[in-house]
Amino acid sequence: MHWLLVITCTLLLVIGCGPNGGSPLPATRAQVKRPAPPADPVQFGRQVFEKCGCVMCHGADGKSGIANPNAKTKDIVPPLTYVAEGYLPAELKQFIRRGQPNIDKMNPNGPTPPFKMPSYGAWISDVELDALQKYLFSLMPKGEKEAF
Ligand code: HEC
Repeated sequence: MHWLLVITCTLLLVIGCGPNGGSPLPATRAQVKRPAPPADPVQFGRQVFEKCGCVMCHGADGKSGIANPNAKTKDIVPPLTYVAEGYLPAELKQFIRRGQPNIDKMNPNGPTPPFKMPSYGAWISDVELDALQKYLFSLMPKGEKEAF
């Protein structure tokens, strides 16, 4: 019965290491192509926000950050609903790429706040970063700009 084993192994080899990155059959490969990013960048940006863990520190839709004792940003990780006011798109993307290695303390003699803004440059693609920026800008409450 070892011919069955040989056939199985050969099949596994062809399927696993075939020139088409898996399947020797082009038709099959076309059927399993990766899902494309959604056409709406804001929607895609929200997915990136969740996938990359931003949501864990900045809260759902960036509305309320978690506690960050003795952080100058009012003892919390800052919410992100107003970044459209404080950053140009390119500045915001640069900030996310670099993160913020030093965190300012509320009380200089107090403890170091536990959370820092991580650097995402090595983890996020340009397409994801673009979508993330558009998503974050979309969080600005409607009509707020006119109110000021
Ligand atoms: C481990 C917790 C943590 C994670 C995860 C995190 N951040 Fe932050 N983020 C912070 C902290 C803390 C600050 C405040 C930095 C400072 O002022 O020192 C901050 C600041 C920011 C700011 C500046 C806000 C302002 O008012 O100027 C932006 C924008 C931001 N984060 C976006 C993101 C995005 C986008 C992601 C995901 C790709 C993310 N953060 C993930 C902790 C986090």
